[in-house]
Order: sequence, then C-alpha cells, then structure tokens
Amino acid sequence: MYKIAVCGCGVVGSGVCDALIHQREKLSRRFAREVGLAYVLDIRDLKGTPYEPYKTDSLETILSDPETEVVVITIGGLDLAADYCFRALKAGKHVVTSNKAVVAAHGPELERLAFSKNHRFMYEASVGGGIPIIRPLNICLYANDITEIQGILNGTTNYMLTGMFRRHASFDEMLARAQRKGYAEADPTADVDGFDAARKIAILSSIAYGGFVDYRKVPCRGIRDVALVDHELADKAGFAIKLIAGSRFEGGKVFISVEPKLVPRGHLLSDVNSVYNAILTKGNYTGDSLFYGQGAGKEATASAVVGDIVELLEAPAVASLPEFVDKEAEIARDERPARYYIRFTSLRPVPAGALIDLFGDDTLCLYSKVEKDPWEDIDVDVTGGVITPACTPEELEAKVPGLNPLGATLKLILKVLD
Ligand code: HSE
Repeated sequence: MYKIAVCGCGVVGSGVCDALIHQREKLSRRFAREVGLAYVLDIRDLKGTPYEPYKTDSLETILSDPETEVVVITIGGLDLAADYCFRALKAGKHVVTSNKAVVAAHGPELERLAFSKNHRFMYEASVGGGIPIIRPLNICLYANDITEIQGILNGTTNYMLTGMFRRHASFDEMLARAQRKGYAEADPTADVDGFDAARKIAILSSIAYGGFVDYRKVPCRGIRDVALVDHELADKAGFAIKLIAGSRFEGGKVFISVEPKLVPRGHLLSDVNSVYNAILTKGNYTGDSLFYGQGAGKEATASAVVGDIVELLEAPAVASLPEFVDKEAEIARDERPARYYIRFTSLRPVPAGALIDLFGDDTLCLYSKVEKDPWEDIDVDVTGGVITPACTPEELEAKVPGLNPLGATLKLILKVLD
C-alpha cells in the first residue's frame, strides 16, 4: 500500500483527507495498488470526525513507518511546518505542501534536500489554490523565456474587493466573511497587507526566471487604503481595482511588486472576481497564457495537493533541480512610465482645466462627489480623482505637490495596470 500521512487537519488538511478518502478507489485503480490515507497528525483530538481513525500525535510514528511514502504538510505558519518538511525529507519521505511561507523561505534548501534523497518536494497548492501553475511553469512552458507574470494571487483580498464594490460592504465585514469561509490566513494581515501575494509571486518568479526571488525584497502594499469611493470612481472611468502581484524579467533583472492597481475593463484580469485567482504569463513562444480558478478554499487547494501526490507516484524521482536553487535573482525598482489614479478631497470642486494643466493634456478628470452642508447649503467635502497620462515615478512626485495650491488634499495614489 502507498500510505499517505497528512500533518495539519485544518481547512486545507481536512480537504486533502476528504479527497483521499473519497478518491481512494480511483487512486488505487490508477496505480494498481492500494493508495490511501494512513495517518492524520493534529493537535486537536478529532473525535467524531471522519479523520479520527487515522489520528496520531507523533510525527515520529509517521516517519518510522516504512510503508508511509508521502507526507503532506498542511500546517500553517512557518517554523513548525518547515521543521516537519525537513524532517520528513531527511527520513526519506516525499513531501507535498500547501504552505507558501515554507516554500518562499526555504524552497531552495528543501528542493536540494529532496533531490539528494532521490525524493520529491512538491508545492503546487502553495500558489493559486486549485489552479495548476507551478507545474505549467516548471514543465509545460519550459520552451519559453517567460518575460512577465501578472496575477491576482490572493483569494481573500479579491473576495473582499469584489464584495466591497458589489455589496457596498465595509472592509471589516468582508474580512469576517472571508475568514468564515476559510479563505483567510490565520493572521489575516498576511492577506490584507499583501504579504501572502508577495510570497506567491516570489515563488512563481523564481521558477519562471531561474533565480531565487527573496519574498522579503518584494515591494508590497495591501488593500487597506482602498475605499468604496475608489471603486466608484474607477468604475466610472472603466476600471476595476485589483490587488496585482506582478513581475517582469528584463535585462537580467526582476521588476516585481504587489499593490492594488486599476485594471482596465476588458483586460483579462479585470473580471476575475470573488475568491477566484488568475495568473497571466507572457512567453516568447506562447505569448499570453491565462490560468484561472479558485485561489483559496478547502476543496480547490486539496485538489492541487492530490495532483502532486499523483505526479510523485508516477515519477518518484527527478533528473534535475530547478535553476533558482543555485542562483539569486537581482531585484530592481520599476521606473517605467505608467498612468496613475489619484484621489483627493477639497472644499469645492477643482476645475478640470487646472488638473489638466497640472498633470498633462490626456488627464482624465473623474466625477467629483459633492457633500452639501445640510444647514448652510454650501459644499463641504468634495472627493475627486484623476487618471494621469503615463509618467515616471519621479515625474509624478514632482507634480503631486501642485494639488495643494488648487485647494486639494491628496488621499490616495494607485498605479494603472498597462
Ligand atoms: N489566504 C490565502 C488566500 C489562501 O486568500 O489566497 C490561499 O493561499
């Protein structure tokens, strides 16, 4: 029997256990040998759950069982999960994980260790939930020089941004909903502040460009500052607001960032809503390829884990290590001209002509929301926005102080995705 152990029976782990229990026959047919769940390691007692019969308290029990070939690590956080990955590989097991923190921080060492043991270290579920993207980048698109990746890589924030706009719901309400649905990380600041997406784009970029991208060097900005009025103004101008994790490989350097951006309606990423993720890759042979699906959640992520198990049972050893294992990527700041969305407030509407004089001829001036003082019948709070013509970050920095003399106070700047 191919015995499989699952360490961590939370949202993803319990999904993996369910899939292994339900698909036991199908898996066993494929490999003409019994393939199934043998152990579930968790600190909870699991009493009354379908996982109770498999419950163990000790990693040692799993590692010392010679029939257990695959250890699935679905524990969250970093240190314990990483420790389990290292110990399982050292003990001669294949390791499959959904834990992107571990992959982003220790990917090269774990890849090397697995290779030295003639075993597999697999992590399809660490990026994009149920979307196949690690394997396509590693293998299917290998003929290509990948020059760009643009992704919506965090299900929680996409769910929140979509819900805030569609339901006029508050940030906190949507975060609570995402948590209830099991999309959010244990510490949701990783989602909301962009760190989760930063780890994921670092993992994808390392594979795509052949140099290890340290996630700690990814310029990263989350969605806390994006207000309902930004969605409304962006929508009127024909844009959606998405948390975009993107990277570009040019001149041997990786230009990378995570930030909320205005995405033109009609762009392939503009209609990716709710918990769905999408990854758009650009290769010299394929051109654009789009990978789309549920980026978080129990079943979708479990599907990716089981896919890895199938692959490693087919090919229990690999002939090569990924290039990023031995090379660090050079990360640089993107200075290319881009359009920017700028939101400001003022006591009375700023004339469009003055904004065009400030930012340039092709400036798009957005609807200003005017709040009247109910007692005095005077304008008391105007929210306005512009979308600038393409300019460099330096040019933008030089122009923005010009809002003050027009009586406008800067509230938010977002880049427009080109
Ligand atoms: N918290 C993550 C997300 C889970 O919302 O995308 C999947 O990695």
